[in-house]
Amino acid sequence: MLPKRTDFPNDFLFGTATSAYQIEGHAFGGAGPSHWDTFAATPGNVVRAENGATACDHYHRWEEDLDLIAAAGFDCYRFSTSWARVMPEGRGAVNAEGLDFYDRLVDGMLERGLKPALTLYHWELPAALSDKGGWRNRDIAFWFADFAQVIADRLGDRIWSAAPINEPWCVSWLSHFEGHHAPGLRDIRATAHAMHHVLLAHGQAIRVMRDHGMKNLGAVCNFEASLPADDSPEAQAATARHDAYYNRFFVEGMFKRRYPEEVMVAFAPHMPANWEDDFAVIGERLDWFGLNYYTCKRIAPAEDPWPALREIEGPLPKTAMGWEVYPEGLHHFLTRLARDYTGDLPLYVTENGMASPDVIAGGKVEDPQRIAYYRDHLAAMRRAMAEGVPVKGYFCWSLMDNYEWALGYEKRFGLVHVDFETLQRTPKASYLAWQDALGSR
Ligand code: NOJ
Repeated sequence: MLPKRTDFPNDFLFGTATSAYQIEGHAFGGAGPSHWDTFAATPGNVVRAENGATACDHYHRWEEDLDLIAAAGFDCYRFSTSWARVMPEGRGAVNAEGLDFYDRLVDGMLERGLKPALTLYHWELPAALSDKGGWRNRDIAFWFADFAQVIADRLGDRIWSAAPINEPWCVSWLSHFEGHHAPGLRDIRATAHAMHHVLLAHGQAIRVMRDHGMKNLGAVCNFEASLPADDSPEAQAATARHDAYYNRFFVEGMFKRRYPEEVMVAFAPHMPANWEDDFAVIGERLDWFGLNYYTCKRIAPAEDPWPALREIEGPLPKTAMGWEVYPEGLHHFLTRLARDYTGDLPLYVTENGMASPDVIAGGKVEDPQRIAYYRDHLAAMRRAMAEGVPVKGYFCWSLMDNYEWALGYEKRFGLVHVDFETLQRTPKASYLAWQDALGSR
């Protein structure tokens, strides 16, 4: 059983989240190629080389999908706009059909009483910009500001909240240091540049949207609890390095206008010129902060170049992603963020959820493990709230099964099951549990 809506403050908001490339079907509606198409077409990068060409075909089925969100009783829908759909070359010409799609989508949310929670960029970069160096090129901050302007001009009057970039860590570190996401680099200099430029682009977009008159502007970062593999000083030090590049770098930039020492020891020779001058933009005032939280990592030292660590398997039960279920981490980050960075700023859990190998049996999908996951994470969040942390809303990841990036369609995070042959949607037991909790059933 999930807690009831009535167990939360009256103004607490519940929502669900998706992203453009993961659900829309990038092949439809005149979108330009993105660097995820290139990445997925390169052998070895993505399970079965799957891509987002069709995904959930949300591009054609968005009304049915919005109906599902509304019928569950959610207040908000967190969605993203695809840069390559709106500006196929990344700059210049606008694809009217793409912009019209988001216009209809936002109106469709409002007609159903859903608050549109916009993310401008959730990972698919127009290939033309990737060819110009993508996040390694400082100009991206200004290309991105132009994209933000196009979106603000068309949608800005009806958006409830907006964040420029989903999970800067994944856009930069995961994609340029670990090579697991597009563009698939493993290069410390590219990483240092991307980590800085992603923050600069964030700040530029906040400025554009605020100048336009948009309200309720925030940021969304991902966090994973860094836990030492054992109590040796070496494991503790490795954990501190992990925590610095994963959990501190971006919030330290945005809220303290500096980067962690533990990272700068390695990044210093690789940073872009005059990077310190950008903190006025990076540190633009925010109206809220969102955290995406899923799991923890166990960190051991390694005889490698910096950061000289490796992840080892932990003892807790795991999701289909192999991620340990560790609700305590959500409490940890909510309290730590409020204490060290965000103060009184409203916090939102902008993503939380789990993957499991869900199947339809007798027309139903039983996913009790997902209900338990939500229950335990909501409890951890409520503990933080009881301690005074100003958490104002919670978003499930995800509305429906979708394209899980390098892991293709195999990892199912949805409240709604998607058959990727027929594209049929089937609400899972967890969807019905949310309906109960939100008083819609
Ligand atoms: C974070 C990302 O924002 C989303 O795109 C992804 O599907 C989920 N986490 C699950 O890995």
